Amino acid sequence: MWKKWIGKKNTDFATIDGCDGVDLSRLPRHIAIIMDGNGRWAQKQGLLRTLGHRAGVESLKEVVRAASNIGVQAITAYAFSTENWKRPDEEVSFLMNLFSEYIDRELDELDSENIKIRFIGRIDELSNVLQTKFENAQTRTVNNTGLILNLAVNYGSRDEITRAVKIIAQKVVGNEISVNSINETMIDHYLDTAGVPQLDLIIRPGGDYRISNFLLWQAAYAEFWYTDINWPDFKPCHLYAAILEYQKRDRRFGGLNKNSTL
Ligand code: IPE
Ligand code: IPE
Ligand code: MG
Repeated sequence: MWKKWIGKKNTDFATIDGCDGVDLSRLPRHIAIIMDGNGRWAQKQGLLRTLGHRAGVESLKEVVRAASNIGVQAITAYAFSTENWKRPDEEVSFLMNLFSEYIDRELDELDSENIKIRFIGRIDELSNVLQTKFENAQTRTVNNTGLILNLAVNYGSRDEITRAVKIIAQKVVGNEISVNSINETMIDHYLDTAGVPQLDLIIRPGGDYRISNFLLWQAAYAEFWYTDINWPDFKPCHLYAAILEYQKRDRRFGGLNKNSTL
């Protein structure tokens, strides 16, 4: 169980169960989560894989609320990759229905918690019904000023970068911009995560140690945190553990530690 943080200043230490010691003045601004291990979680208990996905939605709800309460600026959650179409049709349909149900059930609460929802990935390839739901959720929460929740659905980072390159190439062909004006800031601007704070931390539950085509550009200097815990068992205390570990890391960005001597 966790208690809502009731601190007044951002610098107050959290009083939420399980996050003792998290320094709220040095939180990762943007956390990405590869929500993995749903199927294995279910299969270990002799349940259908799909029940693992359903349980995973509960983890997402709790973790988003916990992140929002302590003041994290943005969460990007990987829900369905451009490679996940390789799964059996029944699993894909189940997941698409689950996304639709999630919006129907959670939108009011997310909105009341001042959360701004965005969808990243090839949303244009999803069903019309889902596209409309996603657009409505985005429009309804667009002016919210709290946590930004990016849900990555039919997302692949190589696809995202390819789309950005195409937009930029078109602008060069149309003489809107010169090749020399292309820089990192411009590329950032044409990615799906444009306007979201810099990615500081990537969390992967489920016991695998790979990035699976997620936020390749944005991950340049993000810290990684892995756990064997499957996503449906991932609780706010694990989020706090990841943040605590992040706060101990020495982020040098190619430079030297401030204590280094020549
Ligand atoms: C992650 O859980 C959810 C999606 C990829 C849609 P998995 O379904 O990949 O679960 P495992 O990795 O098979 O346990
Ligand atoms: C990554 O999980 C994608 C999501 C969590 C949505 P996968 O289960 O698809 O990743 P791989 O196949 O193990 O790399
Ligand atoms: Mg998996």
